[in-house]
Amino acid sequence: MLVPVRPLLLVRPLFPVLGARRVPSTNVPAASHPDAIAATPSTAPSAPLALTDRRPVVPAERLVAEMVPPPRFSDVSFGSYLPDTTQPSQYEAVRVLEEFAASLNGGSTAAKRGWFRRSAPVATGPAGVYLDGGYGVGKTHLLASLWHATPGPKAFGTFVELTNLVGALGFQQAVQTLSGHKLLCIDEFELDDPGDTVLVSTLLGRLVDNGVKLCATSNTLPEKLGEGRFAAADFLREIQGLSAHFRPLRIDGQDYRHRGLPEAPAPYSDETVEAVAARTPGASLDDFDALLGHLAAVHPSRYGAMLDDVTAVCLRGVHQVDDQSTALRLVVLADRMYDRELPITASGVPFDQVFSEEMLRGGYRKKYLRAVSRLVALSRDSAKLS
Ligand SMILES: Nc1ncnc2c1ncn2[C@@H]1O[C@H](COP(=O)(O)OP(=O)(O)OP(=O)(O)O)[C@@H](O)[C@H]1O
Ligand SMILES: [Mg+2]
Repeated sequence: MLVPVRPLLLVRPLFPVLGARRVPSTNVPAASHPDAIAATPSTAPSAPLALTDRRPVVPAERLVAEMVPPPRFSDVSFGSYLPDTTQPSQYEAVRVLEEFAASLNGGSTAAKRGWFRRSAPVATGPAGVYLDGGYGVGKTHLLASLWHATPGPKAFGTFVELTNLVGALGFQQAVQTLSGHKLLCIDEFELDDPGDTVLVSTLLGRLVDNGVKLCATSNTLPEKLGEGRFAAADFLREIQGLSAHFRPLRIDGQDYRHRGLPEAPAPYSDETVEAVAARTPGASLDDFDALLGHLAAVHPSRYGAMLDDVTAVCLRGVHQVDDQSTALRLVVLADRMYDRELPITASGVPFDQVFSEEMLRGGYRKKYLRAVSRLVALSRDSAKLS
């Protein structure tokens, strides 16, 4: 077999329906201090569910159908992307991507934006665009906007999901299936496994030959941003003969998730976490340790399905994770919770301390830093439950 299914594989559940995962409003009164909300009487009729009780199974044949933007990005658009007025590269990214979408639409999309009207629609363009930037600058928002602005058939998935698809279908079948697409969007392109990089590069080469247009994103590490160096150089070097097909676009700017927002709340007490879980319909409640143990027993491709119908995640006793495999599983879970916009209410240590300094300096630091940025944003969202 050409490609074994890797341990870190992601599968989105079958129901990427908007709204289905939105957190319902609760009638719980606001509280200014984290623990103040513990005093609020419980109003939910049923006990919270436990993620550790769930072992979903996701059939492989659904993989292609599920290659759509995750719920968080199910209705984003170029119009809902608000460029930072101090960052010209954000305006430029929107302009180029609208132009790219226009070329896939036969020129119709670009004409809708007044400031772009004077440029002629592009009939032919690069086979691919590559978006590069720091955490939370809106790469996925723009990638999903391109996907939404493009007629089908089209597919959207992370790099890991794409390798998962090839593993499940086999290389030839994956080429055949995806060759019928107009556009393939690949989020979070990874270069840390040479085998997968070659595999996906080869796949993309075949797809480009068959006329499929591509758009990919990946993160640049904060310290590299400080040096003015972006991941584009690595990407273009590693994707073999494909670099000529990609137009790299870098997006400068701050992490939008934290732009002008307050710090994440300090961890809550166990009692508060339990109270929030009890009164929030659809909330899960787990001990962090038990959940980490459970993650080892469930394939990471099923973590998304594990969160089906969950509206909020409550965790007792968050602590620093001391081994790499556990930490990487937690990253996948964090991504799935982020996709679903699930607020996290937690006791224990704050999420910016959940990965050790050593991990944050190691080979997977990109993943860990991204997970911290996302977990902190989700824990800030816990205030919505109060
Ligand atoms: N300029 C913007 N205007 C409006 N919303 C934005 C903007 N930039 C980011 N967002 C929103 O902020 C959140 C983070 O953006 P997004 O996930 O697209 O960033 P990213 O660069 O892909 O981050 P990551 O490094 O985590 O992959 C999303 O909910 C997105 O919709
Ligand atoms: Mg992203």
